[in-house]
Amino acid sequence: MTQSQRRILVTSALPYANGPIHLGHLLEYIQTDIWVRFQKLFGENCIYVCADDAHGTAIMLKAEENGVTPEQQIANVKREHEADFSDFLIRFDNYHSTHSEENRHFAELIFKRNKAAGNILEKEITQLFDPEKGMFLADRFVKGTCPKCGAADQYGDNCEVCGATYSAAELVDPYSTISGAKPVMKGVTQLFFNLPKFTDMLRDWLRSGSLQESVANKLNEWLGAGLQPWDISREAPYFGFEIPGYPGKYFYVWLDAPIGYMASFQHYCNQHGLDFDSYWAPDSDAELYHFIGKDIINFHGLFWPAMLQGAGFRKPTALNVHGFVTVNGAKMSKSRGTFIKARTYLDHLNPEYLRYYFAAKLTSKVDDFDLSLDDFVQRVNSDLIGKVVQIASRTANFVNKFGGKLSAELDDAQLVADVQAAAASVAASYEAREFGRAMRDIMALADRGNLYVQEKAPWTLAKQAGSEQQVLAVCTTALNVFRLLVLYLKPVLPQLAEKAEAFLNIPALSWADAQQQLLGHQINAFTPLMQRIEPASIEALLAASREGTAPAAESSAEKKPEKKATKKEDAVNEHISIDDFLKVKLRVAKVVKAAHVEGADKLLQLTLDVGAEGTRNVFAGIKAKYSPEQIEGKLVVLVANLAPRKMKFGLSEGMVLAAGPGGEDVFLLSPDSGAEPGMEVR
Ligand code: MSP
Ligand code: ZN
Repeated sequence: MTQSQRRILVTSALPYANGPIHLGHLLEYIQTDIWVRFQKLFGENCIYVCADDAHGTAIMLKAEENGVTPEQQIANVKREHEADFSDFLIRFDNYHSTHSEENRHFAELIFKRNKAAGNILEKEITQLFDPEKGMFLADRFVKGTCPKCGAADQYGDNCEVCGATYSAAELVDPYSTISGAKPVMKGVTQLFFNLPKFTDMLRDWLRSGSLQESVANKLNEWLGAGLQPWDISREAPYFGFEIPGYPGKYFYVWLDAPIGYMASFQHYCNQHGLDFDSYWAPDSDAELYHFIGKDIINFHGLFWPAMLQGAGFRKPTALNVHGFVTVNGAKMSKSRGTFIKARTYLDHLNPEYLRYYFAAKLTSKVDDFDLSLDDFVQRVNSDLIGKVVQIASRTANFVNKFGGKLSAELDDAQLVADVQAAAASVAASYEAREFGRAMRDIMALADRGNLYVQEKAPWTLAKQAGSEQQVLAVCTTALNVFRLLVLYLKPVLPQLAEKAEAFLNIPALSWADAQQQLLGHQINAFTPLMQRIEPASIEALLAASREGTAPAAESSAEKKPEKKATKKEDAVNEHISIDDFLKVKLRVAKVVKAAHVEGADKLLQLTLDVGAEGTRNVFAGIKAKYSPEQIEGKLVVLVANLAPRKMKFGLSEGMVLAAGPGGEDVFLLSPDSGAEPGMEVR
């Protein structure tokens, strides 16, 4: 480490350990990774840490649903997350878990120091309690009828139909989404972090320039409305750390989540003999950046700096906040196939395409981000294949043909000097997280390179006798431009850079190499560096993303080919005769038993009473929405004469009707009370 080197610690938000990484997440990890790679390439001392966010009720319930312990659940997910990140070329210096000894240490330390400083309050509150499950219920685990508009099945904090906000206690006919039981009010003492005490400090922090303008404005609004003490404890059963001195009480997941940044860094320090305090002490000259999405700025912009200050640690240098990803102009949707998991993408496409597309559209602002798939294909093919790779693919073979050695002099020294001179402004764009501007500038240089090759036309020149030296000088000029473009793109396209370095027969490029030229140098044979995106890959990706989310409440676990989906849409406009319709025998049925299916994460096994016709066994893909307890006793509509089908889990004898695209958005059709099992439905 040299004297002038910056010491920079960088984090991305910790993904929850209850689900897979998707393209929305990836915007953040790719943005951070590009910035970190740039810093390292530039020669700074930059460390990038992250971890799985492993605590909380959601994860506890997910483990239960999967029939594993929370420890097994988080270990499995961590393995998947790490594989996804690694395959997207995201290079953490350490990837840890909030369920770790380091994190327990820092959570306790920060709590104890804040307590000693008088920043922890105890308050008795009343809360909804699930008497069947024996646990307190967070608002999102309570549903009921909206007290304002009367809409059924609304969450405990706000109504999706009329938009009213209320407390869970105000719901009419509330029920626990975990057990279906009617919750009761119960008193409990909770611990609160005294956030209002930090109001002045936070006002200064918002003014300090550490935050993007729109983020500071938003946080200022909350500050202006008056801060409230923050509830940091949860009652058992809870998956997390027990609070020292308070048996049966646990730290709320958002208390120890950001502390996970410290824990992951401590783990790194232990392995590399680095001094933790020199980064986290109040007077540290190291820089600390958190990359996060706009949905979690209150935690990082208010609670976190206050907790740190209260415990005698430094505050972040800045928060780098990004907006939300939409796909084709709309929220990611399972039914449209645009809820794309990292793994599904990797099954069909090269990760560097997405890295480039994200880079090309990212700014330092908090605006939402649209991934338009047509634009994605067009952009990647035209920029990366049509501009960057093309310079090498049109010139390399001539060098190889004439002995494989670059000329000692350039044909156009000015062109190469101009491209070299761009290093400073491209670096400034990376530093400022204006990646889109960096990509535009690099592509403008690529255009100049291509124009040059087009004008010099080495393929024509090579046909003239005695032109060998001139062809080499032209191709050497082009390949020097190519080398610089690859260097400038290296934070975004590390794999392309590696292949180009092998082809150019040079050691790994670093930013300072922009000042050098490659002359009189032996290169290797050219091999294709990157393939075009075929539109068929996009279709396959969307089809795969739709799989398992088909609407029929039958066997969404089964694969539905793409063709079927489009046919189904067409079918709406096609008429059938009344006779066709009458072929379908619909019957009222009563769910007498509903059960989880071992090894199936989408299915419930239903035992249906169909009156005189006896009982039927049906597997329905409704588990994401309904718990067995919730639907036992319910009336449903059964397609009674569907050919039985053998599934992995047993024979399914029919299908129950439901509306909606599937997954959590599925709504069982239920006859009015009074209907009898076995009745014909028309
Ligand atoms: N576990 C918390 C973060 C704790 S940090 C101490 C969390 N996890 S998350 O998995 O829901 O999200 C992780 C990050 O991904 C967040 O910064 C979030 O904003 C980001 N994104 C999740 N979905 C996203 C999009 N659709 N678009 C862009 N970013 C998104 O929050
Ligand atoms: Zn309402």
